[in-house]
Amino acid sequence: MLTEWLTYIAADCTPPARKLGYLRESIAIRSRYRRCKTAWQPHLENSRAALLASLQACDNFRTALVFGSGLLLDIPLGELARRFENVYLVDVVHLPEVRRAVRRHANVRCIDLDVTGFIDHMDELTPERLDLPPPERFLDEPGIDWVASVNLLSQLPLLPQDWLRRRFHELDEATLETWGTKLMRQHLDYLAAFAAPTCLLADMEQVVHDGDGKIIERIDFASLLALDDTAQEQWRWDIAPAGEIAPATSSFHRVAAHIRY
Ligand SMILES: C[S@@+](CC[C@H](N)C(=O)[O-])C[C@H]1O[C@@H](n2cnc3c(N)ncnc32)[C@H](O)[C@@H]1O
Repeated sequence: MLTEWLTYIAADCTPPARKLGYLRESIAIRSRYRRCKTAWQPHLENSRAALLASLQACDNFRTALVFGSGLLLDIPLGELARRFENVYLVDVVHLPEVRRAVRRHANVRCIDLDVTGFIDHMDELTPERLDLPPPERFLDEPGIDWVASVNLLSQLPLLPQDWLRRRFHELDEATLETWGTKLMRQHLDYLAAFAAPTCLLADMEQVVHDGDGKIIERIDFASLLALDDTAQEQWRWDIAPAGEIAPATSSFHRVAAHIRY
């Protein structure tokens, strides 16, 4: 608890990222990782392997752009730093230990950015006008030779939806859900707009089940976002083994790697 509080005080983080809860969430992910290290290990290894395998699609190795770099748990940072001239790590929040790890590589940079543009536009939104302009940052930057979106897609709407719920009580859940789906689709369109190979690591589904394996809740992102569900590179992320959220409740994500050449 004390470590978490100290990180919260010490972190170099923009005021909106604090206000919206991104810093709190990042610290919570770190704590959950520490509790669930063994259960998470296969997912982290699969993620790193899929990212490295996708580099086969690259002809040039000038700049690597990584969206959702977070705690760097699932990012093969040393290998990326070795192979690319520059590595840009993009996330709303970079905790102090991430900044320290990055300082070991002269060619790696942390870029604090909300890839959806929500933070830049949230004060202009009204219940009638919730649309965000499509993100464009980096699209015209020369030298981007590889783009990765790392276990980020399903997270994109969550904190913005919380903020919209608090700010506009009149918004119903169906509207918020449709809005969230649109935000995720915009991210997919954004990735598709890069003239470079991309590697998307994303949840195909999220499942919560009880001790007998009976499904309590399921979100089917593959259908919602029309993701290709035939990808060979798929695995299970035991994000919350029994005891993590409740004594007899567990949760896993089915994750897939989508590589576009
Ligand atoms: C489940 S974590 C991904 C795991 C991360 N690669 C790691 O190793 O810690 C999701 C990450 O997405 C980031 N994130 C969520 N919404 C974002 C946004 N709109 N723009 C940029 N990053 C965002 C979070 O801060 C978090 O670090």
